[in-house]
Amino acid sequence: MILIVDFGSQYTQLIARRVREARVYCQVQPFDRALRALEEERPAGVILSGGPASVYEAGAPSIDAKILDYGIPILGVCYGMDVVVQLAGGTVGPAPRREYGPADLRIDDPSDLFFGFGAGQRTPVWMSHGDGIEALPSGWEVLGRSEGSPFAAFTDPARRIFGVQFHPEVAHTARGREVLENFLYRICHCQPDWTMENFIQTETERIRARVGGRRVLCALSGGVDSTVAAALLHRAIGSRLVCVFVDNGLLRAGEAEDVLRTFREQMDLDVRAVDASGEFLERLAGVEDPERKRRIIGATFIEVFERAAADLTDVSFLAQGTLYPDVIESVSWKGPAATIKSHHNVGGLPERMRLALIEPLRELFKDEVRTLGSAMGVPPAILDRHPFPGPGLAIRVIGPVSPERLDVLRKADVIVLDEIRRAGLYDDVWQAFAVLLPIRTVGVMGDERTYENTVAVRAVQCVDGMTADWARLPSEVLARISARIINEVRGVNRVVYDISSKPPSTIEWE
Ligand code: XMP
Repeated sequence: MILIVDFGSQYTQLIARRVREARVYCQVQPFDRALRALEEERPAGVILSGGPASVYEAGAPSIDAKILDYGIPILGVCYGMDVVVQLAGGTVGPAPRREYGPADLRIDDPSDLFFGFGAGQRTPVWMSHGDGIEALPSGWEVLGRSEGSPFAAFTDPARRIFGVQFHPEVAHTARGREVLENFLYRICHCQPDWTMENFIQTETERIRARVGGRRVLCALSGGVDSTVAAALLHRAIGSRLVCVFVDNGLLRAGEAEDVLRTFREQMDLDVRAVDASGEFLERLAGVEDPERKRRIIGATFIEVFERAAADLTDVSFLAQGTLYPDVIESVSWKGPAATIKSHHNVGGLPERMRLALIEPLRELFKDEVRTLGSAMGVPPAILDRHPFPGPGLAIRVIGPVSPERLDVLRKADVIVLDEIRRAGLYDDVWQAFAVLLPIRTVGVMGDERTYENTVAVRAVQCVDGMTADWARLPSEVLARISARIINEVRGVNRVVYDISSKPPSTIEWE
């Protein structure tokens, strides 16, 4: 295991990604919890992330100097590099020449960290620093330099401590992957053995040991995360997993039936379906404010779920499909960016129901969850589907939600997805959907004046849900979507395409 110590860099997660890509298991810990994690977990190596502070400022985040003396190899990146230099008695100050962006690294010593490079060779790296090393601790050796950084890479050969001024984790550092792999394989002697089979094996054993003869309750939404979590639990404890699927009346056309059939027939899960659509729609009647809609849906979900679970005995755990990025965000030093929309749909449930939480995916990234699901035979129809928000179509019917308006939206939405699939574009876009706007406009159909609803079509490209761009759908596809919606969906006479990126817009309209 590799321990990654977070000093608040925007790239900390990227370091974790790269280490996982090298098939080595890693954990991220904030700097003030790192020493404890190191003592408990005894990692094979430690990577100190970058960070926005300056080590010579009062109150700058650091770590106990003890970390240098465990005999565990350390790689400091950027700010993490300044930290080790300072702890070992060197000096760091404002750089005479700051470097942001590409730089040329000249390799002095192609052993260890730069194994596979040539002595004197130059290689493009990516820098982002305003501080620099003024003096290395005595006995330390320079491994590479750039025009602005005479100590761009160095080592304490005695204690196997390394530092790099550049960011090996970013794609702009051409051979960054090799540098990290040299650290992992050659210096820390890690084996590339972090595989899904390995994960399934250890995780199912861990779940069995923890759950014993008791039962686990799982809320299934039909999304990737909760489904894969359920598949893993099912493999570990079989029929002692009980799932609840709540139909909130805000799902896409045919979705409840589809996912239930998949859960039962293809995955052999014990699922109790609760049709609570009436209850949800009643409480949403007349509500316009998006955050109020979300709160009502969240609270109603909890009530319905609690009722559904009330007659189950022996249930001691609640399973959730929490992923690693959620975990990192909540422990990260400076915390996540301010919440723009409240996304956590079942927050507070475990405490209220006095259930212990079980989160079998909390060490995985999204694409690892897909790989895991596929290794366990979760149908591609679930693994490859677009994300769908917990509050469902309620945040796509802008303004008050009613059964009639939901019906109009569902019909338009089916057409959008149908045409995107027919054009072979479903897997190329992150999400595609229809939004029903609360405005009517004038049109003409036959010889009649119409005064009907407007539907907006949204399709975005995106990697992580944080930033997104509108998809450049071919105009023929847009034309077919528009013509079909106007012809086939009664009550709509105008279709517009949303050409806003995120930021400043968001993916969902509410
Ligand atoms: P936004 O609209 O914030 O959406 O750009 C980013 C991603 O999150 C999804 N989303 C939600 N998911 N509960 C969820 O489970 C929510 O309340 C929620 N709101 C937005 C959205 O579909 C997109 O993939």
